[in-house]
Amino acid sequence: MGRDSEGHVSKERVTFTFDGSPVQAQRGQTVAGALLAGGIVAWGVTRSGGRPRGLFCGIGACFDCLVDVNEDRAVRACLVPVNSGDRVETSTSAEPDDALSQPSGRPEGGQKA
Ligand code: FES
Repeated sequence: MGRDSEGHVSKERVTFTFDGSPVQAQRGQTVAGALLAGGIVAWGVTRSGGRPRGLFCGIGACFDCLVDVNEDRAVRACLVPVNSGDRVETSTSAEPDDALSQPSGRPEGGQKA
């Protein structure tokens, strides 16, 4: 996964794209970590109000960080490790695929009540 036996992120660099633009990351970083390290702090907007959204809880609980990664829709950027060649896109999915299968998930697609 790109981490050593002590859990440190690898120094190996990978390149992925975010909305078509190349971004460099360290192998083993999460998508959210890589976007933040690349200076990208918001990668989505709320459905009501269009307010910017990015990393919030950082532990997979809030669903504010949803992105599309390759063929996977509405995945939590704070949990998914980035790989070389990944295509990360601003998520346009209304329903996060994994939220529907999580007992604590919010099926509203990241919207707060
Ligand atoms: S930042 Fe909360 S689920 Fe990713």
